[in-house]
Amino acid sequence: MKIAMVGSGYVGLVSGACFADFGHDVVCIDKDPAKIESLKAGIMPIYEPGLAELVGSNVKAGRLSFTTDLAEGIAGASAIFIAVGTPSRRGDGHADLSFVYAVAAEVGEHLRQEAVIVTKSTVPVGTGDEVERILTEANPGVRFAVASNPEFLREGAAIGDFKHPDRIVIGTDEEWARQVMTEVYRPLFLNKSPILFTSRRSSELIKYAANAFLAVKITFINEMADLCEKVGADVQDVSRGIGMDNRIGPKFLHAGPGYGGSCFPKDTLALLKTAEDYEAPTRIVEAVVKVNDARKRAMGRKVIEALGGAEEARGKRVALLGLTFKPNTDDMRDSPSIAIAQTLQDAGVEVAAYDPEGMDLAKPLMPGVEMCANAYGAIEGADAVTIVTEWDAFRALDFARIKTLAKAPVLVDLRNIYDPAEVRAKGFTYVSVGRP
Ligand code: UGA
Repeated sequence: MKIAMVGSGYVGLVSGACFADFGHDVVCIDKDPAKIESLKAGIMPIYEPGLAELVGSNVKAGRLSFTTDLAEGIAGASAIFIAVGTPSRRGDGHADLSFVYAVAAEVGEHLRQEAVIVTKSTVPVGTGDEVERILTEANPGVRFAVASNPEFLREGAAIGDFKHPDRIVIGTDEEWARQVMTEVYRPLFLNKSPILFTSRRSSELIKYAANAFLAVKITFINEMADLCEKVGADVQDVSRGIGMDNRIGPKFLHAGPGYGGSCFPKDTLALLKTAEDYEAPTRIVEAVVKVNDARKRAMGRKVIEALGGAEEARGKRVALLGLTFKPNTDDMRDSPSIAIAQTLQDAGVEVAAYDPEGMDLAKPLMPGVEMCANAYGAIEGADAVTIVTEWDAFRALDFARIKTLAKAPVLVDLRNIYDPAEVRAKGFTYVSVGRP
């Protein structure tokens, strides 16, 4: 089957490469000629483990190609995916759908064969209706259907998530479109990944509801962590204790500096806007957004406390280890590290930092922060070392070396990757999240 993927960003590229790996004939399309040229040369626009290899092998096998020409790319395709960005619209938090609608218009203009147009971009409820209207207006003169097929990939684990999904959600009321989509996902279907067919609107909402629910879970455990600190309980045990209840489940209950990334912050805001527009307020999500925003700066204040309070902290130096919003990505969008660095700088603290993949993207977002070549470069002369992102490279730090390099043996571990007793036994002052 021929599949066209319009938009070769994170979701489009990973999905396109995985579909090709299933044996489909895939063309990834993007407006950006520089991106397409790099992809043709085997250079990935993003850092994602395993992606370069997967793209390379499928290009070599002749199943995956790249073009800037949409008309050529969609010719003969039975499924045309729209996987372009839907950033937060400046000023109001609504999802900006201009890219999605522009693609719909262009597809409508060039469509010459029967096809299912599938929105993979994260789009608010009702977007499929508008895409259908735009396509109908272009009057392509062939049968088409508009389906919703949201993406549940996690950055850093995207290929595994694509190939072993918990579920595939497909929203369409048209039987023939269901058949096409079943064909698209047949290899996963045979692998027993459940496919859930729903209406288009339900499918669109499932994406936002899933991300909002996960954001709720994280924020809930973060607030429990704060409470643990006050009452002398251990959030790791609380998390384990509630997660063993099958109705709750153990995942997304790791307390930390607050969620970031390209999805949760933007999608929770967009859900609030939809809820507002339809006069069905989602107060829980409203609270989650506020609590998570406040948490990032609160983590900066936690570091200041570890330095001895605001008075003492002025003029001191802090090493931040990990800047990306989570490990195995170079993505800096809404990363807690940005607010943490800002809070420290506002308090007159000097900040040095290191991240295995995020330095280039971090630099312009963190003016005044000294970017170092490695972890120990950042640690040199620091009055406190702070782990912001749980990269594997920080899981076995050389504590003896830190003691000789840093001005004081103070470790603030915002991801709880170390055992408090062990670190203290090495002579460190150790501060973590929600643990005594
Ligand atoms: C998230 C969802 O997990 C995916 O299912 C979804 O497809 C994706 O958004 C999207 O909408 O495109 P992602 O943003 O890549 O994926 O990252 P997550 O692994 O979900 O982590 C998000 C944030 O939550 C990170 O800042 C992470 O550190 C934080 N987090 C996660 C916690 O603080 N605690 C946890 O227990 C889990």
